[in-house]
Amino acid sequence: MDQDYQQFSVQVLKKTGIDLSLYKEGQMKRRLATLYEKRGFDSFQEYFKEMNSSTLLLNEFLDRITINVTEFFRNAQRWSVLENKILPRLIAENKPLKIWSAASSTGEEPYTLAMILSNYLPGSQFSILATDIDNLAIQRAREGVYQERSLSEVPVGMKKKYFQQDGSLYRISPEIKRLVTFKQHNLLAEPFDYPFDLIICRNVLIYFTEEAKTLLYRKFSESLRPGGSLFVGSTEQIFTPREYNLEIEDTFFYKRLC
Ligand SMILES: C[S@@+](CC[C@H](N)C(=O)[O-])C[C@H]1O[C@@H](n2cnc3c(N)ncnc32)[C@H](O)[C@@H]1O
Repeated sequence: MDQDYQQFSVQVLKKTGIDLSLYKEGQMKRRLATLYEKRGFDSFQEYFKEMNSSTLLLNEFLDRITINVTEFFRNAQRWSVLENKILPRLIAENKPLKIWSAASSTGEEPYTLAMILSNYLPGSQFSILATDIDNLAIQRAREGVYQERSLSEVPVGMKKKYFQQDGSLYRISPEIKRLVTFKQHNLLAEPFDYPFDLIICRNVLIYFTEEAKTLLYRKFSESLRPGGSLFVGSTEQIFTPREYNLEIEDTFFYKRLC
């Protein structure tokens, strides 16, 4: 790590609790360098000095490192595996189901799950915790108002049943909203709850270093009950699941062994 960026990482960790050294360096450095250059700074040090006293710059920085892109039923085929193969097994084995959507961004992922589960179980038979490091994303998730483009994969029946259209915006129904509890949580710094039947963590591990990923796979596995399932993103296969006491149940789904 070059000295300018390394020092910046230490300062950011002190100020925000976010450990940049656990995010892939090349990618993160490029993202941040474009941002500070746009603001007219020449180094990470200069940038931090200003950021330290400017809420605007700090928020802009936080927004840049948390990539919030998401949508309902992202990679729809995987959700159908969840619905038709993984959930029936989990429901048969244990109730009420305890579920965690980790790095849930603006809520599309946990709400997708709540809509699917509502077809099979009453709300009293499952709980969904949704967490993200980004407070603004959590606020937007709690509001539950979305642009049409993030609903493009939502089946027509569900769109009718669970959304209220308001001009070009779509408001998630209170009955689905009520099924998800949102909380701020930093995956790289805070303890995990236990025991979950299902953990969904998709499209965030790609931004982390190999060491951070290894640590997180271990922690996710330990947070599942034996037989519980980990659902990862479509570029995030675990190549040696047994190292983490996991086995492949389907593509991108891993079951805790014992
Ligand atoms: C690309 S979104 C993924 C959203 C959703 N899981 C999906 O697959 O559609 C990545 C999310 O990870 C969150 N994130 C980044 N670093 C994190 C960390 N250390 N702890 C928790 N969330 C983090 C970001 O704030 C962002 O909302």
